[in-house]
Amino acid sequence: MSTDRLRAETLAAIAAAASPDALEAVRVAAMGKQGQITQLLKTLGGMSPVERAVSGPAFNGLREAVAGALAVRKAALDEAALNAKLAAEQQDMTLPVALPPTGSIHPVSQVMDELAEIFADLGFAVADGPEIEDDWHNFTALNIPESHPARAMHDTFYIAQSPADKKLVLRTHTSPVQIRTMISQAPPIRIIAPGRVYRSDSDATHTPMFHQIEGLVIDKGITLAHLRWTLETFIKAFFEVDDVALRFRPSYFPFTEPSVEVDVGYSSKTGKPAGAGQVDKWLEVLGSGMVHPRVIAACGLDPDEWQGFAFGTGVDRLAMLKYGLTDLRAFFDGDIKWLKHHGFSAFDLPSISAGATP
Ligand code: DAH
Repeated sequence: MSTDRLRAETLAAIAAAASPDALEAVRVAAMGKQGQITQLLKTLGGMSPVERAVSGPAFNGLREAVAGALAVRKAALDEAALNAKLAAEQQDMTLPVALPPTGSIHPVSQVMDELAEIFADLGFAVADGPEIEDDWHNFTALNIPESHPARAMHDTFYIAQSPADKKLVLRTHTSPVQIRTMISQAPPIRIIAPGRVYRSDSDATHTPMFHQIEGLVIDKGITLAHLRWTLETFIKAFFEVDDVALRFRPSYFPFTEPSVEVDVGYSSKTGKPAGAGQVDKWLEVLGSGMVHPRVIAACGLDPDEWQGFAFGTGVDRLAMLKYGLTDLRAFFDGDIKWLKHHGFSAFDLPSISAGATP
């Protein structure tokens, strides 16, 4: 076939190709490995220089013309396909958007955030410590010596592979963070320490892992009155009840002297903390007291110069009381339905420190 005829036929086929697939078939027939133009170009190698001087430019011109026509036709077909698609696909902009599934904030995380906010307003920083603790920080420095019955009360998980000089435990409370903070920071100190704690105990109201929050204030001239005001302010802000009834009861903890337990007045009618008029039940919410001079001395401070108070409470229990949740074990089951029902939206946090500011 003459070069001119091949050019005319190929260009006609390109112009007639009505779809990208048809165009591709034309391209393969002309320029593919076995294509007519490809074959033609291969014949140049066997030609004499004189023949090649004539055929070379002619074949190459043919190849360029066809390649150019293919590109132009492809662009036109692509544009036509896009226009057809746009015309066919009408979007209804008034349809509601299908939102991707969102997670929720676990009640324990929510309450920890609420506590951190309330105490931040009162000037407390957040401190933390290791969950694998040594016996000295978890017990001894807190005035719970080796033979003290309080060690048995804590149902401690001991770590079998402890170093010879250190017995390691899963911390049984957040109180060791008091010790670590007093050792590592110069007073005055105002911290809270939320976190996980562990005890070998399991039933409807106990899980082997649960959450506590510890508070510690160390300064000069701190008295029980500071303790009382701080706890009262915190409890009112947390439960969002201004006239909440509180009871401060003498108690015993090895690391405080005197020690105080705080009960919140509760209405069994509303199932919520309440003012004096509606109270028919008392619920213990926290332990506290003036930091024992021996604890202050164990951390290298002079107890005649520095005093303070401390408190500790269960975060899970606070969450149950505030949000009316009944089974502690549900907190840690990871049941999506429970979390959807009792969890909090990340985009809709309540104004949590509202009660703490005047
Ligand atoms: N550590 C105690 C517990 O786990 C709670 C506690 C009581 C902490 C009194 C304190 C405190 O700081 O002063 O039961």
